[in-house]
Amino acid sequence: MSAMKKKNFGFATTAIHAGQEADPLTGSVTVPIYATSTYVQEEIGKNKGYEYSRVSNPTRTRLEENLAALEGGRTAHVFASGMAAINALCTMLRSGDHIVCGHNVYGGVPRLFNQILSNFGLQFTYVDTTNLAAVEKSIRGNTKFVFIESPTNPLMALTDIAAVARLAHRRGAELVVDNTFMSPYFQRPISLGADLVVHSTTKFLNGHSDGLGGVIVATKPEHAEKFAFVQKSAGAILSPFECWLVLRGVKTLAVRMIQHEINGQAVAKYLESNSKVKEVFYPGLPDHPQHELAKRQMSGFGSMITFELGSLKNAQKMLRKVRICSLGESLGGVETLISHPATMTHAALGEKGRKAIGLTDGMVRISVGVEDSDDIIEDLDEALKAI
Ligand SMILES: Cc1ncc(COP(=O)(O)O)c(C=O)c1O
Repeated sequence: MSAMKKKNFGFATTAIHAGQEADPLTGSVTVPIYATSTYVQEEIGKNKGYEYSRVSNPTRTRLEENLAALEGGRTAHVFASGMAAINALCTMLRSGDHIVCGHNVYGGVPRLFNQILSNFGLQFTYVDTTNLAAVEKSIRGNTKFVFIESPTNPLMALTDIAAVARLAHRRGAELVVDNTFMSPYFQRPISLGADLVVHSTTKFLNGHSDGLGGVIVATKPEHAEKFAFVQKSAGAILSPFECWLVLRGVKTLAVRMIQHEINGQAVAKYLESNSKVKEVFYPGLPDHPQHELAKRQMSGFGSMITFELGSLKNAQKMLRKVRICSLGESLGGVETLISHPATMTHAALGEKGRKAIGLTDGMVRISVGVEDSDDIIEDLDEALKAI
């Protein structure tokens, strides 16, 4: 929309209008789903800008415009899942290149790195990225990326994004931030110095637990060229229908995040007050060790909370009893999802790997949804009585 290009609109307006212009052909207020594999060409070498849907598709173009605007990036490229996006990101590298990766990221990331990409000569070092000296020490001459999640999954530890960006840049590496947990509504890593942002759009961006997707938001022209080439060549692109689901989802991102945050705060305070809960990990609580950093680099604290119940047995007892909170992997949907990281999202790390990052069998992670917070709290209260 030309008006969108002329002025800096607020976040909610950008989410609803950037890339989401009315259809020029019919006036349809929503972006049409271009369910087509190919495009009729007028003559050899003459087309309307689209040739084949692996290369580009108008619904996808609209979503990519939207997500680039929301993260404040130059371009965005969407892929079939968050993991497909992270895999595509790594195709920027060559055999012998090195990645410094946060030691407490989504378990699927080290699985991809250690069990697939290391077979192609990429090298990885895992480090506690909350510790700047440790990050600095792990950067080598061949380090191309520092890859972080902030807050981490599931321990909710923060990394100082601006400080790590400065460190990485000084040593010739780029900073990649997985911003899935916060969404651009609460955290904008590019404004803090990140070079690349990735998301599992499956989570808050889509927000309705009805489609998978991933995105790489980039800041440099050479990134844009590379990721468009990877979409065309490797083909793990997001389908037009799933692009449309995300376009639909982001229209309510701002209002959803506001409610997620209200509910997240209420649930965190409740959990803190329950004697069965040994510890609550939520950056919005004043006693979170990085609460000040959270206030500085995020504009809200979101709705991801982890809490410690002391043992696998206690976690099992509690998780058997929840009714409103649904036991399941994933996060960021309107419905409250509750999970057991040690046996679900982080099973692939193995017992030793989990111990190394402080992830215990008694930890439960909750993605607080936008139901009535009293109902969520009552459900948790009843379930915790089982311990
Ligand atoms: C922080 C984070 N990044 C990436 C992923 C991978 O995304 P996807 O499941 O869409 O492949 C997940 C999945 O849970 C995640 O939580």
